[in-house]
Amino acid sequence: MKLKDIYELAVNMGKACDVRGDSLELYLQGQRKQYDHLSQKQRELFDMEQLTNPYADTRILAGNREAYIKGVFCGIDVETPEIVLADRIKEKGAKVDLIIAHHPEGAAQAGLHEVMGVQEDLMVHAGVPVNVAEGIMSSRISEVQRGFMPLNHQRAVDAAKILEIPFMCVHSPADNLVHKFLQNLLRDNEYSTLENIMDILLEVPEYIAAAKQKAGPVILSGKPKNKAGKVFIKVTGGTGGPDSSIEKLADAGVGTFICMHMQNKLLELAKKFHINVIVAGHMASDSIGMNLFLDGLEQKDVDIITAAGLIRVSRNS
Ligand SMILES: [Fe+2]
Ligand SMILES: [Fe+2]
Repeated sequence: MKLKDIYELAVNMGKACDVRGDSLELYLQGQRKQYDHLSQKQRELFDMEQLTNPYADTRILAGNREAYIKGVFCGIDVETPEIVLADRIKEKGAKVDLIIAHHPEGAAQAGLHEVMGVQEDLMVHAGVPVNVAEGIMSSRISEVQRGFMPLNHQRAVDAAKILEIPFMCVHSPADNLVHKFLQNLLRDNEYSTLENIMDILLEVPEYIAAAKQKAGPVILSGKPKNKAGKVFIKVTGGTGGPDSSIEKLADAGVGTFICMHMQNKLLELAKKFHINVIVAGHMASDSIGMNLFLDGLEQKDVDIITAAGLIRVSRNS
């Protein structure tokens, strides 16, 4: 596969299971309108990928788009150490034509806040009024944008460039894949209580492997015998949502919140509003999303080496 085909596959897989459905095209049309109104100088600075790819956290960061890729090195967090590791095994004969990170790096990290809008749609689907969802997300998006500003986004990208290894990151598309996976899992299996959900999760190979590493699914709020009620799955949308989302979700009738990880403040609020919380596990959940994408590469005869927290499970056979 060419690098550009791998990138397009990621974006298309993400779009195919995006909760926004058809309105994703409206979003892209809005980007085009915005571009059309820019001055010449502003157009020179504009990221043209925004016109076709709704995921600012998914980009080719280094390398020629036409490069032919036979082997990839893929991890959840890929920083300079992993890039040096990839180069080291390449030197020993491993097929590494491309490094893929899940968590965004470079411009994709600096633009992470731009993908958070989907959280509004997730809340609306759970029954939160759209005006409330929009209102509480706007301040959280600015907060995340400011939080990422001081970071040194380009370190890993610079390392990949120096070692002349193509580098890309696939974030929201993979998180959309795990969102869909969990949604289907709970649709296809009967449950009533939190422990029923835990049993369902612990049938998934990535969660079994993570549990053995003491990083599997855990109930952080609520008792195992509690009724789950309406379940809200929050595993996509860039990063954690606003604190106030918990109260709004409780008002909308959500009984159980399933996520990859949760900050203390949000957890305190979940307990206050009697929302059960199941943390499915960060690396394991991110691995599921990446595995579903990597299966697509494997089908095209691309060899896959995983590291940096990625629990590889192929669903191809
Ligand atoms: Fe993720
Ligand atoms: Fe993550």
